[in-house]
Amino acid sequence: MLGLLVATFGFAMMVRQGTSAASDGKTILKLGHGLDQNHPVHEAIVFLAERVKEKSGGTVEIQIYPNGQLGSETESLEQLQRGALAMAKTSTAPLESFVPEMAIFGVPYVFRDEDHFWQVLHGEIGHELLDAASSHGLKGLCYYDAGARSFYTISKQINEPADLRGLKVRVQQSKTSMEMAEALGASPTPVDFGELYTALQSRMVDGAENNPPSFYSSRHFEVCKHYALNEHARVPDLLLMSKKVWDRLSPEVQVWLQEAADESSEFQRELWRVESKNALDAVEKAGVTITYPDETKFAERVGPMHDSLDGTAVGKLLRRIKSEY
Ligand code: GCU
Repeated sequence: MLGLLVATFGFAMMVRQGTSAASDGKTILKLGHGLDQNHPVHEAIVFLAERVKEKSGGTVEIQIYPNGQLGSETESLEQLQRGALAMAKTSTAPLESFVPEMAIFGVPYVFRDEDHFWQVLHGEIGHELLDAASSHGLKGLCYYDAGARSFYTISKQINEPADLRGLKVRVQQSKTSMEMAEALGASPTPVDFGELYTALQSRMVDGAENNPPSFYSSRHFEVCKHYALNEHARVPDLLLMSKKVWDRLSPEVQVWLQEAADESSEFQRELWRVESKNALDAVEKAGVTITYPDETKFAERVGPMHDSLDGTAVGKLLRRIKSEY
């Protein structure tokens, strides 16, 4: 009887903490994210779940809920902090409200190119930022490539910052995204990613900004016929766990999860290159005009935003990124 009570209590605790134990003792971890199943980040998460299943001999199962089924990215982060959800993949943009240093990724034109970006993510700064999440109830497992973000618009072609004037551009739920759009001359409107298709269709906004696979898999290209690859920011995706849930797992399970996350990150980077190109081809085929505006014209505009960060924690990171790498 006591054994049954303990088992029942243990089960209730685990459910409350974002995991559940099946009757055969299996640990089930729910993972939520906002992307479509055709997106390369979703494919990497499927790979992650397979690796965890293999490593654990089927005793740990990751159940994936795509398309924002479990809520917006901000809601998922709150659920992770409370321990109501075990895992989530979010962009670092909404994460900055929880882990302020993450704002560095929303600052436009910080990285010279993709190599520079990955040197930083795999270097000291990348590790420090993952660790910083821990003191906010979030265990950072790995980064996923989210390429570079560029503007897409319903009807107006963007060739230079002046073309953004007066345009209502959807941005992510983050203060830095708002500042980025303002610095480049647009009027920012935050909208949840899951609601953006409708916001574009109803002309609540005139455009948005994102990487090619997200522009394609969200089908925003059906409404937006101009994609200007000005590549203003590299905002990575992050795989996160609830620290409360993580701390309850055995060291062995923690090792399996971390190894599988690292492997899925490698896998995703390869996939990203191929699928970014495929996405551009597909949207062009669907009638989108892709242009390559002179990036220096956009980068010149963000000097004051960079200067305004002097003396802040994000400003210090910016200085280090510019000088150390
Ligand atoms: C990217 C990112 C998503 C994010 C989206 C957005 O696609 O991968 O996690 O939700 O941008 O613009 O909100």
